[in-house]
Amino acid sequence: MKILVYGAGVLGSYLAHVLVRGGHDVTVLARGNRANELERNGVVIRHYFQLKTTVDPVRVIRTLEADESYDLIFVVMKYTDFKPVLPVLAANRSRCIVLVGNNADAYGMLDELQEMSLTEKQIAFGFQLSGGTRANGRVICIRGGGQMVLGGLDGPIPFQPLLEKAFAKVKYKLVFHEDIDAWLKSHIVPILALNAYLFTKDGRMKKTAGDKKRLKQIIAAIDEGFSVLESMDYTITPASQATFVRKHKLMAYIAIKIYDMLPFSKLVDGSFGEMAALYDTFSQLKRKANIPTYHWDDLEKQFHHSKNSD
Ligand SMILES: NC(=O)c1ccc[n+]([C@@H]2O[C@H](COP(=O)([O-])OP(=O)(O)OC[C@H]3O[C@@H](n4cnc5c(N)ncnc54)[C@H](OP(=O)(O)O)[C@@H]3O)[C@@H](O)[C@H]2O)c1
Repeated sequence: MKILVYGAGVLGSYLAHVLVRGGHDVTVLARGNRANELERNGVVIRHYFQLKTTVDPVRVIRTLEADESYDLIFVVMKYTDFKPVLPVLAANRSRCIVLVGNNADAYGMLDELQEMSLTEKQIAFGFQLSGGTRANGRVICIRGGGQMVLGGLDGPIPFQPLLEKAFAKVKYKLVFHEDIDAWLKSHIVPILALNAYLFTKDGRMKKTAGDKKRLKQIIAAIDEGFSVLESMDYTITPASQATFVRKHKLMAYIAIKIYDMLPFSKLVDGSFGEMAALYDTFSQLKRKANIPTYHWDDLEKQFHHSKNSD
């Protein structure tokens, strides 16, 4: 199968590695120095828990021409990076596209892409459950097994069989979700609350483990964020997230505390720009929901303040 991975950061590189191992003809679209690195060394990944390093040569391109065709395109980048590449995807003649990453506006992106496209497109949204960082031309990847949650916005993904075929020969789980928009929106609630703390002035959650009051505030803010979604008729998914922060506050508190103390938690990348954009889109939902969100608002304020005081 001819597959393009558009975006060669942490998660795109790992996906490219999986697809190469699956026996496919994988092309990676990268830019700047990252494209040079990939051409020179291939996709180099340090698998943190698996204690191994893999190297996979890939074809590298810097631009996607309109007449280049792929069976599948995975666009793996930050929320803020998707919008500028939508016209490029629209102009290209490939049909099956999955946008992979945090996304607070999947419907908006779907409409925009479909409106601009000259040919019919089938578009799905996904989230890869792994993390990591980049250092000296290689990716440090943190994961249990490889896994992606994905779904379409107008019912099941029409090209699901193609996706299953793409991962058939590798140990990588595809979880097809019937309401991927609710899944993605539910996911950003804890991510935003935790990142608000990560980016506060004292920096990168260094003090979280010892800061009881603020940990409690994170949990209360997550609860409020879920209430915003519920009042807009979104189903929190997985539902256990809401039960956890509402009914097992002490366990949630301990879980964050333990996570913060684990050395690999410092290797999970977060970007201020992406989080700020997700906060902006979430604020629109919050305005519509019009319910009190004191803890959320305070965390959001601290988050923005952290940038100003850099
Ligand atoms: N990393 C983590 O620990 C982690 C964990 C969970 C979830 N996520 C989420 O997964 C998504 C992807 O994260 P990531 O860490 O893989 O991001 P990333 O490392 O920033 O990777 C995105 C890649 O896309 C490239 N890119 C962006 N716009 C492009 C364009 N117009 N043309 C060509 N390349 C372009 C970037 O290029 P440059 O190299 O030039 O920047 C970068 O290499 C995000 O939503 C993130 O929040 C990440």
